[in-house]
Amino acid sequence: MLTETIKEATKADHLALEKQVVKRLKAIESGKDYAELLKYFYAYFSKVEAAVAPFITSELLPDYSERRNASYIKADIEALGETLEGLPQAQAPEVSNLQQALGALYVLEGSIMGGRIIVEMLAKVGITQGVSFFSGYGPETGVKWQRFTSVLNAQAQTDQEQQQAIDSAQQTFARFGEVFQRNYEVIS
Ligand code: HEM
Repeated sequence: MLTETIKEATKADHLALEKQVVKRLKAIESGKDYAELLKYFYAYFSKVEAAVAPFITSELLPDYSERRNASYIKADIEALGETLEGLPQAQAPEVSNLQQALGALYVLEGSIMGGRIIVEMLAKVGITQGVSFFSGYGPETGVKWQRFTSVLNAQAQTDQEQQQAIDSAQQTFARFGEVFQRNYEVIS
């Protein structure tokens, strides 16, 4: 099934991005620092969401409009007393069909899984405000993930369709990494 192959095929990409994000998280000392990190998420997620929007219809994924999106990041930035001014540059992956859209959305929806860990890391430095985005779907997380992955499996059946979704997911991880590389000084 695609959900298994896509996870395996993007394991290294996930690890590389996770490393970048953990480094940034460890450098956070204040709500302002955290808001700066959220700007990277906002800049990228809003671009990817716009790229997939034409393909992710309510017939395909009926609860899509209720799902977490970049508007949560905006609300979190504002809850921290900051604004969307000075967003970093970000480039969405290429999305020109449904399978590519689902591959990109796999990365956005899957990122919820690490959210709980991020919320815990922030709490350790006393940050408990502006965490709606990383709190994901709470107890509904499993059900929402299952609903999404069953659509992903159903819509990418042939080898070619599956490969398109996988390539797109890899590119979605990579372009997010580029947002950090392009806009931040290297932290090693
Ligand atoms: C501090 C950073 C992060 C941590 C600690 C983290 C951790 C995790 C964990 C524990 C899982 C569940 C793995 C499993 O159940 O097998 C997961 C899954 C996933 N994460 Fe992350 N993650 C982080 C950042 C991200 C980011 C920034 C993205 C993408 C924008 C992302 C995308 C995904 C995806 C797509 C999955 C689903 C894999 C699958 O089951 O197919 N993660 N992550």
